[in-house]
Amino acid sequence: MFYTVIGTQWGDEGKGKIVDWLSSKADVVVRFQGGNNAGHTLKIKEKIFKLNLLPSGIIRGKQCIIGNGVILDPWALEEEIQILKKQGIVINSKNLQIAENICLILPLHIILDEINEKNRGEEKLGTTKKGIGPAYEDKIGRRAIRLCDLSDEKLLRKKITNLISFHSVRLIHFDKKINEADLINKLLKVFNKISQYLAPTWKILNDYGKKEKIILFEGAQGALLDIDFGTYPFVTSSNTSSGQIFAGTGFGIKDNHQVFGITKAYTTRVGSGPFPSELFDEIGNYLVVKGKEFGTVTKRKRRCGWFDTILVKQTVQINGVSNIILTKLDVLDELNEIKICVGYKIDNSNYDYLPFNENLQQRILPIYKIIPGWKSSTFGITEWSDLPKNAQNYINYIEEVIKTKISIISTGPERSQTIDRNNILSNI
Ligand code: GDP
Ligand code: IMO
Ligand code: MG
Repeated sequence: MFYTVIGTQWGDEGKGKIVDWLSSKADVVVRFQGGNNAGHTLKIKEKIFKLNLLPSGIIRGKQCIIGNGVILDPWALEEEIQILKKQGIVINSKNLQIAENICLILPLHIILDEINEKNRGEEKLGTTKKGIGPAYEDKIGRRAIRLCDLSDEKLLRKKITNLISFHSVRLIHFDKKINEADLINKLLKVFNKISQYLAPTWKILNDYGKKEKIILFEGAQGALLDIDFGTYPFVTSSNTSSGQIFAGTGFGIKDNHQVFGITKAYTTRVGSGPFPSELFDEIGNYLVVKGKEFGTVTKRKRRCGWFDTILVKQTVQINGVSNIILTKLDVLDELNEIKICVGYKIDNSNYDYLPFNENLQQRILPIYKIIPGWKSSTFGITEWSDLPKNAQNYINYIEEVIKTKISIISTGPERSQTIDRNNILSNI
């Protein structure tokens, strides 16, 4: 059986916590897109783990694969491995494999990310400045350096010369210079440390598939940051949707594949772009503080707003989500009443979906259903029957509107603070 975990909003839905929880049953955990723009947090008893590139299954010592759809900053990877090893996590060539054909983020991509953002001025995207966009551009432009190139110094030198020459006009214009020899030396040095993880991961994964192992694909970012279906141009540069798992790993389409949509009990977003149910009042501030809504990667304050059924209904369909996993329910505990966005009005017309036109998106007026809060603590609850009636009503109402089962509810950051309403874990 194969499972995919996808964020159904703008990221930071709690994917790390849930992948860790589900991975107790998994044989293999796989990343298939994005890069170290992701920040997945796991809390196990009093220990906190922060993962950017490594699949969250690494904490349980599971077999982990970083697929070719990921964009890899090799220095960031090496640093992450060292930090986790210091935290007592075992990482070696037996439990970590990286696709040979994965494309690299180089220091020049980080420079270009900064230049691009500065150039956009007021219209900046608010990227994580990890070089994600420029590195994916080079991949699509067919001039990227791939991990397998680092084992062939002659090829590497030629490709680096071409790449720097391609970007030179822009870099010189902004007074930036890349030292070619220095870059090659640094790449060869870091390759020495990470070459042990290189593998034909597409082959390994398909072999696992044939043996009917349990494979868990871990999405990064969220469906609304998808390059095609997100709030373009305020998106990341990869397909974050479940459709990407096949291209991003080389794992062939098979039966028995279920997609879990990780969904926050309210909505957050980091960076710029439309956000119809955004709150600018004291309730918004309450959600920031109570939900500790500060970015894992950039430490920026996350924008907060009400749950938006229009968006989640849309991403559920695009990603083939069969079950929703609702996180951070406990953050809503103290509210008197809770709003749920159930429709959009734009220029006097009603919409039951998010139109693609950027200007229309800016003019959305959300239509809300108001339901009473529960005003009591749900923190750490592990049984559905222990939830206050109004909390059950909130979940049931959302379930009804988005027409998708909410099977798992997270009531705290810790691994065990989870309600398995439909016995999902025991049936994996
Ligand atoms: P990800 O990027 O989707 O993995 O999410 P992040 O790790 O960036 O952000 C989610 C944050 O919420 C982390 O700090 C988690 O520890 C925390 N978290 C996850 N689930 C819950 C929950 O149910 N309740 C509370 N209070 N915090 C949670
Ligand atoms: P996880 O996996 C939330 C956002 C950035 C920015 C936009 C583009 O932790 O959920 P990029 O650096 O990718 O070019 O930035 O995407 N973004 C995320 N927001 N969670 C993430 O990952 C994100 N990864 C990128 O804030 O708005
Ligand atoms: Mg995150």
